[in-house]
Amino acid sequence: MDEAAVLERLKACGVIPVVVIEDASLAVDLAHALVEGGIDVVEVTLRRPAGLAALAAIAEEVPAALPVAGTVVTPAQVMQVKEAGAKAVVSPGFSESVDVALREAGLPWLPGVATASDCMRAVAAGRTVAKFFPAEQAGGPSALKALSGPFPQMSFCPTGGVGLANLSSYLALPQVICVGGSWLVPADAIATGDWKRVTQLAREANEAFKVLRG
Ligand code: 3PG
Repeated sequence: MDEAAVLERLKACGVIPVVVIEDASLAVDLAHALVEGGIDVVEVTLRRPAGLAALAAIAEEVPAALPVAGTVVTPAQVMQVKEAGAKAVVSPGFSESVDVALREAGLPWLPGVATASDCMRAVAAGRTVAKFFPAEQAGGPSALKALSGPFPQMSFCPTGGVGLANLSSYLALPQVICVGGSWLVPADAIATGDWKRVTQLAREANEAFKVLRG
């Protein structure tokens, strides 16, 4: 899948769930629950040891979901997530070595940016789509708007402190292609297999997104 097609999927999905998972055997049910609620992109972070296996399980068994690897911070992890079937990669920050590894792997990448210097490094590397992280803590929509001024070529996926209550203020910005967040996939719902709740949260997010972006 080429970069343009991946970006289209992110844009169409609008709200990207950021999954932190402790038990990879729950990943397939989790992804099905999200898809049922209208969310068909799943970012699985490598924050827990189960992350990689969870990503691989979704890539293998849930063709309706686009598997994205999150919290990728080293070149070695780039190779691992490619092997696991990730179709795109998200990082909390920008690093030249990860940039090079992603280029070699041929996977689309959303590096994390929070400052103008981060954006300068991303743009110098030819990267024009980034995760704005941590979005709320870094100043929210008004900070993102100001940051975008000198970088009109960039678009963003704000993540960090985003939820149903503030979704609209990010999606109101034309440079925002989608938002990300963990609120769709609460740790307790995953741990107890409460897939109805996950589907409900996904549906609410999807409906809010459709109202805002049609
Ligand atoms: C991330 O890494 O994308 C964030 O930790 C998700 O932020 P949230 O938990 O505030 O949604």
